[in-house]
Amino acid sequence: MKSIVILISGRGSNMEAIVRAAQTEQWPARITAVISNRADAAGLTFAAAQGIPTAVVANKDYPDRERFDAALRTVIDGFSPDLIVLAGFMRILTAPFVQHYAGRMLNIHPSLLPSFPGIATHRQALAAGVKVHGVTVHFVTATLDNGPIVAQAVVPVHQGDTEQTLEARVLIEEHQLYPRAVRWFIEDSLTIEDGRVLVSEQ
Ligand code: GAR
Repeated sequence: MKSIVILISGRGSNMEAIVRAAQTEQWPARITAVISNRADAAGLTFAAAQGIPTAVVANKDYPDRERFDAALRTVIDGFSPDLIVLAGFMRILTAPFVQHYAGRMLNIHPSLLPSFPGIATHRQALAAGVKVHGVTVHFVTATLDNGPIVAQAVVPVHQGDTEQTLEARVLIEEHQLYPRAVRWFIEDSLTIEDGRVLVSEQ
């Protein structure tokens, strides 16, 4: 039985999609903890209601990134995870932290990387005038939003879209894509070769 720790900062709808998929599809894995950098993250309420242990490591309680990351790492490692899932975790992580979890930390980013890294991805997409947009699940490396790509899903950009309508269309795909990618990891279907991800069973 593999152990998954999920990190969130807010709503936690991707975390919820993963928890529900693990339950209904009876994954050989347990969500052993949901950890937030904000005590007011709404997703903590859902996790607790599911009987999943929750923890808060508040970045505002630490003077710098290094000490926050060290504290976060201690809490995460207390759950002995095989996989760390960043699900709307809105903190930039230090290189030593990322290195510690190399090859076993996934992130979801609401754009078709390498287009539109960083924040306000839907605004960036609308400003660029792209006709398709989407979401990417990738392994986390020290360079922001730049690790090996596991999976992507595409949505059309419609004339008249706003950031909100585009975000809503992308979010529907996120909730399908992230559980699938996490499941591949849990089933040992992912290998990284020359910075590219191979998926052995689909
Ligand atoms: C999601 O859209 C996720 O892709 C995005 O934040 C949202 C979190 O929603 N992540 C990032 O922008 C990471 N840079 P959720 O809390 O409901 O899952």
